[in-house]
Amino acid sequence: MGEGRNRGPKVRRAEAGDARAIARVHVNTWRQTYRGIVPDAVLDALSVDEREAMWRRAARPRPAGGLFVAETESGVVGFAVSGLEERGRSDFPGEVYALYVLPANQGQGLGTRLFRAAVRSLSEAGLDAVLVWVLKANPYRRFYEKLGGELVDEGSVELGGVRLPTVAYGWRELAAWLEVRR
Ligand SMILES: CC(C)(COP(=O)(O)OP(=O)(O)OC[C@H]1O[C@@H](n2cnc3c(N)ncnc32)[C@H](O)[C@@H]1OP(=O)(O)O)[C@@H](O)C(=O)NCCC(=O)NCCS
Repeated sequence: MGEGRNRGPKVRRAEAGDARAIARVHVNTWRQTYRGIVPDAVLDALSVDEREAMWRRAARPRPAGGLFVAETESGVVGFAVSGLEERGRSDFPGEVYALYVLPANQGQGLGTRLFRAAVRSLSEAGLDAVLVWVLKANPYRRFYEKLGGELVDEGSVELGGVRLPTVAYGWRELAAWLEVRR
């Protein structure tokens, strides 16, 4: 069997060397998803160089969770990152901070695989619940609802001087969720 030939997309832990590819996915997906939702100035100012530095740091080992990429023969097409929830919510100790798949690669199950990998890495660290914050106007909210996320909170985030409403989806009993939702 030829190594690396004709394999389907793979989901794996990211390495520092993936940072630039992740940054490209990040910038492209933000611009295509959030145009008309997030101020143009924020989207136009996104810089692959800046994001690369950020994702290089995010690839380092962390106490719980991690950074994962979806990779096809043409390279990295999606990523997810999870870790400790940092606002002090004891009922949801874990968070999926970000999940993005390039538009051309959406709808093929990669988002689900990335989300599961990000959640599994929290569960393996002993965390039993996770939440994810999403812009209220995000057209992809159904993705989280389909995965069984429940609306557990509302908030807002400031981007480019504009305050945008957000919602949080939550999952409890992660070990059971990972078993059932194969
Ligand atoms: C949300 C996202 C990560 C999902 O990844 P994906 O690889 O497309 O997801 P999957 O193929 O695993 O799809 C799972 C379910 O999500 C939903 N979904 C997928 N694409 C969708 C779309 N374009 N619009 C609405 N729902 C969609 C569907 O219900 C799908 O289930 P189905 O195939 O049985 O109908 C991805 O579409 C994405 O990056 N979107 C833009 C950025 C974004 O909003 N990210 C989340 C920010 S917090």
